[in-house]
Amino acid sequence: MERLMGRSALITGGARGIGAAIARAYAREGATVAIADLDVAACERTAAAIGSAAWPLRLDVATQNSIDAAVAAVLERTGRLDILVNNAGVYDMEPVPDMTRGSFDRLFAVNVAGTLFTLQAAARAMIAQGQGGRIINLASQAGRRGESLSPVYCATKAAVISLTQSAGLDLIRHRINVNAIAPGVIESDMWDHVDALFVRHEGLAPGEKKRQVGMAVPAGRMGVPDDLAGMAVFLASDEAAYIVAQTFNVDGGNWMS
Ligand SMILES: NC(=O)c1ccc[n+]([C@@H]2O[C@H](COP(=O)([O-])OP(=O)(O)OC[C@H]3O[C@@H](n4cnc5c(N)ncnc54)[C@H](O)[C@@H]3O)[C@@H](O)[C@H]2O)c1
Repeated sequence: MERLMGRSALITGGARGIGAAIARAYAREGATVAIADLDVAACERTAAAIGSAAWPLRLDVATQNSIDAAVAAVLERTGRLDILVNNAGVYDMEPVPDMTRGSFDRLFAVNVAGTLFTLQAAARAMIAQGQGGRIINLASQAGRRGESLSPVYCATKAAVISLTQSAGLDLIRHRINVNAIAPGVIESDMWDHVDALFVRHEGLAPGEKKRQVGMAVPAGRMGVPDDLAGMAVFLASDEAAYIVAQTFNVDGGNWMS
């Protein structure tokens, strides 16, 4: 099936993990995909592995100039922007007594301001095109409920859910559908980092936290990035035209809402 034939997509944080899995799925569905990431070498590898439908793009979502330049580059290369996947994100583990301004500022700059101002830049381009568009934000089960060791990360993802609601309500009059996906626990470089932080904060053996969270998932395992691709394709497709301002859990049954 080629449900995204002729569409131009921008995927932030697309070099690896969930973003790269969504990029592969979009390319299979006929879209042209900008793999946009801070890590240029990884962008180039991921784009080359996908083939001619994908191209690498340097992007730092924490910097307004970089966001503006990336959206301009997509318009220059493909003549349009139909789909934004706001996937770039960073994690840190600092319980309240240990919290630092530096970590707070970095997580909010990437996960919240990065999501919002990339959404804004893409929405402006889509409004100018006058043909609607799709914006898909990566929230998290961590945005549904606080966690004692990572209060700031949870707050950033709760903010992504809230921004999805407000932007979704505002932009649907331009036929731009804004929705979000809330993954559960997904095998990726990010979760390797989380596991290493549990070694430091709880003295667990390496790999132990992953084993524990995988066993606790009702589906019986951690997710893999490709588990997110189906929902990301669906939300970008014509079939999702009447879905507005929602956040969908894709988490093996971890959370119900
Ligand atoms: N892995 C999980 O279990 C999980 C669960 C819930 C939500 N999420 C969310 O899904 C998204 C993707 O997660 P992942 O596990 O694939 O992460 P990952 O760490 O494997 O990949 C994230 C990518 O984002 C890029 N990135 C980081 N900061 C950036 C910036 N300032 N500008 C541009 N790119 C930047 C990184 O270079 C990296 O390639 C994130 O928003 C994450 O918070 C992940």
